[in-house]
Order: sequence, then C-alpha cells, then structure tokens
Amino acid sequence: MKLRSQEWFDNAEDPGSTAIYLERYLNFGHTREELQSGKPIIGIAQTGSDLSPCNRHHIELAKRVRDGIVAAGGICFEFPVHPIQETGKRPTAALDRNLAYLGLVETLYGYPLDGVVLTIGCDKTTPALLMAAATVNIPAIALSVGPMLNGYHKGNRAGSGSVIWDGREMLARGEIDYDEFMEMAANSAPSVGYCNTMGTASTMNSLAEALGMQLPGSASIPAPYRERGQISYETGKRIVEMVHEDLKPSDVMTRAAFENAIVVNSAIGGSTNAPIHLNAIARHLGLELSNDDWQKFGHKIPLLTNVQPAGAYLSEDFHRAGGIPAIFSELMGAGVLPNPDAVTVSGKPVSEIYANAEVANEDVIRRFAAPLKEAAGFVNLKGNLFDSAIMKTSVISGDFRARYLSNPDDPDAFEGRAIVFDGPEQYHETIDDPALNIDEFCILVIRGAGPIGYPGGAEVVNMQPPAALLKRGIAALPCIGDGRQSGTSGSPSILNAAPEAAAMGGLALVQNGDRLRIDLKNGSANILISDEELAARRAALQAAGGYQYPDHQTPWQEIQRSIVDQFDEGMVLKPAVKYQKVAQTKGMPRNS
Ligand code: FES
Ligand code: MG
Repeated sequence: MKLRSQEWFDNAEDPGSTAIYLERYLNFGHTREELQSGKPIIGIAQTGSDLSPCNRHHIELAKRVRDGIVAAGGICFEFPVHPIQETGKRPTAALDRNLAYLGLVETLYGYPLDGVVLTIGCDKTTPALLMAAATVNIPAIALSVGPMLNGYHKGNRAGSGSVIWDGREMLARGEIDYDEFMEMAANSAPSVGYCNTMGTASTMNSLAEALGMQLPGSASIPAPYRERGQISYETGKRIVEMVHEDLKPSDVMTRAAFENAIVVNSAIGGSTNAPIHLNAIARHLGLELSNDDWQKFGHKIPLLTNVQPAGAYLSEDFHRAGGIPAIFSELMGAGVLPNPDAVTVSGKPVSEIYANAEVANEDVIRRFAAPLKEAAGFVNLKGNLFDSAIMKTSVISGDFRARYLSNPDDPDAFEGRAIVFDGPEQYHETIDDPALNIDEFCILVIRGAGPIGYPGGAEVVNMQPPAALLKRGIAALPCIGDGRQSGTSGSPSILNAAPEAAAMGGLALVQNGDRLRIDLKNGSANILISDEELAARRAALQAAGGYQYPDHQTPWQEIQRSIVDQFDEGMVLKPAVKYQKVAQTKGMPRNS
C-alpha cells in the first residue's frame, strides 16, 4: 500500500517538489533514508501547553507515544493544536471547539501524515479532535491524558468542579470564608490530569473509549500512574499497525458504536454536554444521531458509577474499581449493550476485549442488579419553549420531588412562575432583588446563553436560588436555559435548549410571571399561553429587531455565529458537515 506521506517525500517523478518537501524536514535531524523508507508517518496532535494545564501532561506522555511509534516502525511528527482550556478561556472554551476542529482538519489533510494520535483530556479537546479525525478519516487513535488523583479537603474527597459548586453555596451561607474557599478549590486538584469528577472531561474520555477510539482500559488511568505512560507507549505502537491495516475512524465510530456510547454514558452518569459532542462527531461522519436517540437508548439505563457529582467517589477510585472495561462487562452481562460486536481501534470487538473485565469494588462500580439510581439517562423535552432540551431526571432530589412533583393526580409534571434572565450578568445583578418576588414555586429561566447568543454556549443554566431562599433551606429551583451546565454540577436543570433565544426559539418569548409547565411523562415543556398570544409576541419581537445579544468581540465570534448550528445538532459549523471522509473523497491536496 502506498502511504499518503510518500506523495510528499518520495515522488521520483517530481524531484522539484520532493526536494522542497524533504529539505526542511531534514534540518532538525531526520535523514533522507528515514523519510523515504516507506515507514508510516504518525502525527501526535498535541493539546497540552502551559495554557492548557488539564492536558499539559501530554507533553511528557508524548515521549512514550513516540517510543511506541518508533518501536513499531513508524516516524513521529508532533505538532500543536489550538489550546482549549475549560477553566481558562473566556467567554467560554466551547467557542473554540470548532476552531480547534477546523485547524486540525487542515493539519491532518494538508501535511504528510499517515495516521494520528489524538491527545485528549480537558472537556472540549476530546470532541474537537474526534470531530477532525472523523472529517479527514485517516487512521486515528485517541489517548487520554488521564484524570487527576483524588482530591481531599479536611479528610473528605473533594472533586474538582463539584467542590466549587458546593463552596459557592457555603460561602453564600457564610459557612466558609474566601481563603477557605480558595483552599478547597486547590485541594480538589492535587496532580496533573483532568477533572477527577465525572464531569465533561471524564465523560468524554470514557466515551472516546466506549466509541472504540482508545485502547481498552485507557480512559480512566490517572495521569500520574505508571500505567498511563505504559498505555501511551502501547497507543504509539498500535497506531502504526492501524495504518498498515487501514483501520479508519469511520470503521470504528459506526452508528453501532454511538449507540453503545449512549448506554455507557448513562451507566457512568455522564455529562449533559455529551449529547452535544457525540451528535457533532456523528454528523461529521455522516451518521444520524439525535437527542431522541439519547432518550431511546439511554434513558432507562441505570447509574452504576458511584462518582461525584452523582455519587461519592472520584476518578482514581473508578479506575481502581475497573473503569470502562468493568462497565462494559457489567452492561454486556445484563444484556443491555446494544452492539457488543462493534470493533474498536484494537481491531477486536467489544464483546471480546471486555467480556472478562471485573468489578474490583462493588461500592464504586455497582452491579447492574444493584445500581445507584434507575433510569440515569436523559429525557428529550419538547414544546413551545423549544424543539429540544435535555434533562437528567435521575438527579432530581427527594426535596425537589416533594416540592414540585408531589401532586398524586399529576405525579410527573410541575408548574411554576417564570423568572427570566437575559444572560448570567443580569442573573447575578438581580437574583436577590425583592421586586422579583421569587418564591419556592418559581422556575428560573436563562437565555442568551446559547451557541449564537453567548457566543459558544455558556455553562450557566444551573442557577442558585436567591440568598433568602437558600437561608430557608431551599437549595435548588427548577432551571431552564439555552445554555449548558457544567458536567461537575448535579443540578436537575433543563439544558441545551434549541433553538436558542438568539435564533428566535420559544425561550425568546417567555416573560416574567408566565406559567410554565414541564411534563416529564410525555416529555413536554410549554409556556401556558395561547398560540395567538405566542404568535403576537413573536411578531412584536421580530419587529423590534429580534432577540438582542452582545456584539462580537473577535473575528472568530462573528464568523462562528454566522454558520454555527444549534446544540441538538451538535453545535457544528453548518458548512463543515458536507465534508466527509476527506482523505478518501477529495483526493490529495494540490502541490504547494
Ligand atoms: Fe479541564 Fe475539567 S477543567 S478537565
Ligand atoms: Mg465545563
């Protein structure tokens, strides 16, 4: 098989071009013999940097990847990916997922690469890299950087992210001071690696393995562990073999693999960001995947993983208890994994590689017959408020249920008075304003927080009740919004509403004082006003110029806003999805 890199480095019919391509790649020490040897050239898409601390340990791990590539007879070219740091990037890291995607598509297609190792980790890095691999479709394998070690504060497990949500409430109630709050945050992050809770990072790394894109058992190994370096070496070796086998992302990330991943997501208590990202990856592969699929395949699956925010433990415990292999084995044992025959980057089917994986601690990973919670997946709500929004019903607390879902004639529905905020700034400025008259039967609504409105989609929907209610022991009000929610928050919000207010979805038309009705049984969410009244509000808002949101601050904000799709469609760049399997369908790029 002729490798695509040979078009650059070993084309005797075009010595002029070959000389140009070869010359500069020799200048740091490669020899012509190496580059013309016909060995696969493997990229390491490096997401770690000082700006991306969650993935920074990949700088170290890449050395072991490189060793593996060379040991298997490959040549390694490591290159940087546009940084995406969940906690550092303003206005939101989600703004940059599609930017990193675009950059990586150009890199994978336009350079002499035969295969690539995707260094995944922090929330948006995983989907960005998998999306690009899907579009270009050269052999690709993902390598998780691994979670941080367990965090502890005053002897108790303190999970990154989750501790911030708790700390904010404790600070608001006056139980801790500023310094202790900062100390709690620091203690939750004791080592290199990504979030040690089951937030979006642990979720997406777990799902990268569930999709078949990582070596078995790779997802959960903590970043500092010996095995993390060892699996990096194995990953480097395996990608060289994959190039020889021509095993491509489209062979691994099939519809069957996505159905498996949805089931795994429920069993691990995965983040509400997962549907956005998996729907996006699927679209770049030309596969149909919708939020209806998430409800259909995922909602009934129980929660097996006792990890914060839904449970008590952290990622290091999850790894020691068996990680994703144990989850797969438990799901297959119960006969609920839809497609055990799906093939992974190992070249083998799920049924073979995970069949004998064992649960080493039954409190951390529950047996299917004794789960932490039933029905841990999402419901997909629809109505005049939005066409699609998801809710994780399993995190509804007993207190919440008693307050809102206690009507015996109507046990799955609740109604409340809408309190509407245009963006998180207005929420913070006015939440404690007595004029809003917020009581325990209100529903907090936030809008202007979606892919266009924010821009990028902000993690702001899980809004804290006003201080007066918190002091009375009301810890949560129902929240609805066209933004997202951090995967490290356990709040039962209605999220990712699409279309967003900025795209003139129903949320743009809600007014303070409207009655909202959410029915979990029939999956509906509505403003209780007539269709005529709704149409009149829409016409009035359109006449006033539509829903207003802040002006663009950078070129990318403006460009993305003009072409981005909604959350239920994966928040992809609309023009990008028609480019599929580019390495096969578009031929080689023209000479430079
Ligand atoms: Fe990067 Fe959580 S902030 S993984
Ligand atoms: Mg986040």
